[in-house]
Amino acid sequence: MNIDGKPYRSIWLADDGWSVEIIDQTQLPHTFAVRTLQTVQDAATAITDMQVRGAPLIGATAAYGMALAMREDATDANLDSAYDRLSGTRPTAVNLRCALDNMRDVLGGLSPATRADTAYHRAAAICDEDVGINRAIGEHGAEHIVRLWHEKKNGSSTQPVNILTHCNAGWLATVDWGTALSAIYVAHDEGVPVHVWVDETRPRNQGAALTAWELQKHGVPFTLIADNTGGHLMQAGLVDLCITGTDRTTRNGDVANKIGTYLKALAASDNGVPFYVALPSPTIDWELSAGGDIPIEQRGADEVTLMTGQAADGSIQTVRIGPEGAPAANYAFDVTPARLITGLITDRGTCGASEAGLLALYPERA
Ligand code: MRU
Repeated sequence: MNIDGKPYRSIWLADDGWSVEIIDQTQLPHTFAVRTLQTVQDAATAITDMQVRGAPLIGATAAYGMALAMREDATDANLDSAYDRLSGTRPTAVNLRCALDNMRDVLGGLSPATRADTAYHRAAAICDEDVGINRAIGEHGAEHIVRLWHEKKNGSSTQPVNILTHCNAGWLATVDWGTALSAIYVAHDEGVPVHVWVDETRPRNQGAALTAWELQKHGVPFTLIADNTGGHLMQAGLVDLCITGTDRTTRNGDVANKIGTYLKALAASDNGVPFYVALPSPTIDWELSAGGDIPIEQRGADEVTLMTGQAADGSIQTVRIGPEGAPAANYAFDVTPARLITGLITDRGTCGASEAGLLALYPERA
């Protein structure tokens, strides 16, 4: 996507041909900073510290982390050690395991002398595949937005389609386009009037910091809201549909996504608002039969007790928002049961949130 007219992906190979560059998402929206990764440890730290985040981008970064490791030392021992180092970075997004397994399968059968080159090619292919998948999700997801727009117009409304989203499932969370936001970008670019309600997404504020920034850069109308606002908006008829991303979807259509997604799905169900989840196929965990088996990441208490933002003088400051020493829990994801989901928007089309629905689109997984 474009930033001030210049096209970017969220991860790319540097001009030196071997180091890897990322947009440091911990600095957004106040500073646009590019960071260079030169070792497998750099890649692991970027994922753990959430300089890169979002399920597909975590997978892409891990793939390049394996390439960096192979450049340093392409032995079997280092292949295993890089796999272990990267797979321990974040537990919930299954794209991480998917990318790492893919890299290890491809590299394991090769002689060490050819591993580094192949690893770079495979990592680049994983990135390109992600871009193609997300563009397809955008096309399929936009169909729902267009349909709701026609329904509104027939009722002679001149209002835009109001879409609520949670966290950041935009191009910053993927290599390009995004998942939930890809549908919105495609609809917007086709001339459909859209307006996005952006959940701030405490505690790390991916909505306020990243989704709002992305939408603003692309010129999509949006309004930032506190996380607790969605239910009220739905009761007032101000949300036409919700679209979120997911970090792992199980065989039965249960969906793990950023903490708070479940509450939005409950409110949507109570108010008859369609609730869609956009997902690339690597986010489906065919090995798990239901969402209760998904590992839920717990992060540091500081993310809950402290907030960082820009002060009036432009400086970045961190402040405490509770009493000193207050205990805090930080569950990073929750599971939305399939029964609350109107449809799963995939790169192969939209299906019901069920094993039958998913298998109809991915029969090779039967
Ligand atoms: O903790 P994060 O910021 O990595 O969580 C990201 C999300 O929950 C996204 O909604 C999800 O990864 C889908 S991104 C296309």
